Amino acid sequence: MSTAILETRGLNRSFGAVTAARDLNVRIDTGEVVGVIGSNGAGKTTFINMVTGYLPPSSGEILFEGRSIVGQKPRQIIRSGMTRSFQVAQLFPELTVLDNLLIALVAAEGPRPSFFGGLRSRERIRRADEILDEFGVVRYRDTVVRTVPQGARKLVDIAMALIGKPRMLLLDEPTSGVSVEEKFPLMDTVMAAVRQHGVTVLFVEHDMEIVERYVSRVLAFYSGEIISDGQPAAVFADSRVQELVIGHGHGHVTPASQRSAA
Ligand SMILES: Nc1ncnc2c1ncn2[C@@H]1O[C@H](COP(=O)(O)OP(=O)(O)OP(=O)(O)O)[C@@H](O)[C@H]1O
Ligand SMILES: [Mg+2]
Repeated sequence: MSTAILETRGLNRSFGAVTAARDLNVRIDTGEVVGVIGSNGAGKTTFINMVTGYLPPSSGEILFEGRSIVGQKPRQIIRSGMTRSFQVAQLFPELTVLDNLLIALVAAEGPRPSFFGGLRSRERIRRADEILDEFGVVRYRDTVVRTVPQGARKLVDIAMALIGKPRMLLLDEPTSGVSVEEKFPLMDTVMAAVRQHGVTVLFVEHDMEIVERYVSRVLAFYSGEIISDGQPAAVFADSRVQELVIGHGHGHVTPASQRSAA
């Protein structure tokens, strides 16, 4: 049996009367690319927030590479090798792209990062330039983030999550706010980078065309529960998923396999 990189057992989270996560038992193996779908308020971000240390679960266990991480702070989890991006990019808008990357790199280093050579040490800059190149955003290296176009800004945000070479990456709606023309090139770039480095990926996505094209497995959330878990074709064919996820909410794109030829 392959090794689970991430496992949750009986994970629960309530906000007052709202159950945002109910008995989530998820096991993700090294190398999987997992898509998380579900209508607005289904509990997708809550799940990511719990496993990355931004939100304590009400109860339950979270194991990363076999070790419990419940109660750890986000920065500890980042340093142990699991990073994320946010539904709304968390960049320092007044700093350059390069400085944003350097800050992310320091955050991913040990508890006492070396400041020999300063924040902008030659080694850190080399790594930042390497990932700028890999993500095709070298031209924005010295641009203040505030003025970088949205699609490139998304790429920088994801590059920040990958710069410290995590073993697992979680993305909350990587293509939200990205134009139709940019979304596939963006995902091609991100997926090429994660494949190259053998990073396990889980991403939340409303766009079923993206899910269908890039993932090997889908988790469908509804009302804090996982109502379907399997290969994309099987999950999309599930009647509850069709009723509660695909035919529901705003702006959802029907997967090609579910569209009639009409
Ligand atoms: N900090 C919070 N305080 C109170 N309720 C919250 C909080 N965070 C989430 N919730 C509630 O928990 C439920 C799940 O929210 P969550 O943000 O996880 O949904 P989501 O699937 O990410 O939705 P979306 O597609 O809109 O991003 C919703 O009912 C939401 O209102
Ligand atoms: Mg969300």
